[in-house]
Amino acid sequence: MKPFVVANWKMNFTLKESEKLMTTIISDLGIFTGTVVVCPSFVSLSAVSKLMQNTSYYLGAQSCFYETDGAYTGEVSPRMLKDVGCQYVLVGHSERRTRGESNDDVRRKLVAVMAEGLTPILCVGESLADRKAGTGVEFVQSQLRVGLSDVSSGRVMVAYEPIWAIGTGVEAQAEQTIPMLQAINATLGQMKIETSVLYGGSVQASNARRFVDEGYAGVLVGSASWQSESFVGIVKAIMNEEV
Ligand code: PGA
Repeated sequence: MKPFVVANWKMNFTLKESEKLMTTIISDLGIFTGTVVVCPSFVSLSAVSKLMQNTSYYLGAQSCFYETDGAYTGEVSPRMLKDVGCQYVLVGHSERRTRGESNDDVRRKLVAVMAEGLTPILCVGESLADRKAGTGVEFVQSQLRVGLSDVSSGRVMVAYEPIWAIGTGVEAQAEQTIPMLQAINATLGQMKIETSVLYGGSVQASNARRFVDEGYAGVLVGSASWQSESFVGIVKAIMNEEV
């Protein structure tokens, strides 16, 4: 299996800064095996897409709206994302859910992304309160059941990102990540959906390999993807045997 790494640049970098970071990553990383997806902000997608031409990188967006076009001020549709070269779209990131995105919005977005032939990466994950209450697995399973309820065929990916591990430096432990992966796979199995599951949340070069060894298909990286050195370290840690 070839590992999968996604860089989520979040709301960072001007156009020039995005171009510089992408150019540096391409030169620092060199040749690799596996899949690397970079998700810049909407305004930098086109420029980063150009830099990716004739490379092995894939372009992703951090979100989208579920309609194709129309009077939806400020929104961006999957059709537009496809047009600038995106092949992947993050859907339901916790930073969007906390700003009001519901499971039902997520479901509609997922359908819209797939209708354009793009691959959605459905982000799921429980809060610390849910985990402490012992309802973390249940919470994630309901996110999957609603989010994926309209998916019958086509390519979709899932990223398990515990909210308490995102941007906090808190490293989720094996006794948390392994049972959750089993629960996610069980739910997906019941739904007869075949997909790969990524791990996200304070992924660093020092821990990235562990998640892949536990059975995750790869990692979704936030803050450590904002500098070439740390991001390249992660990609090398999980893709190249000698590192
Ligand atoms: P982080 O973010 O790596 O900074 O924890 C991950 C994410 O939000 O996808």
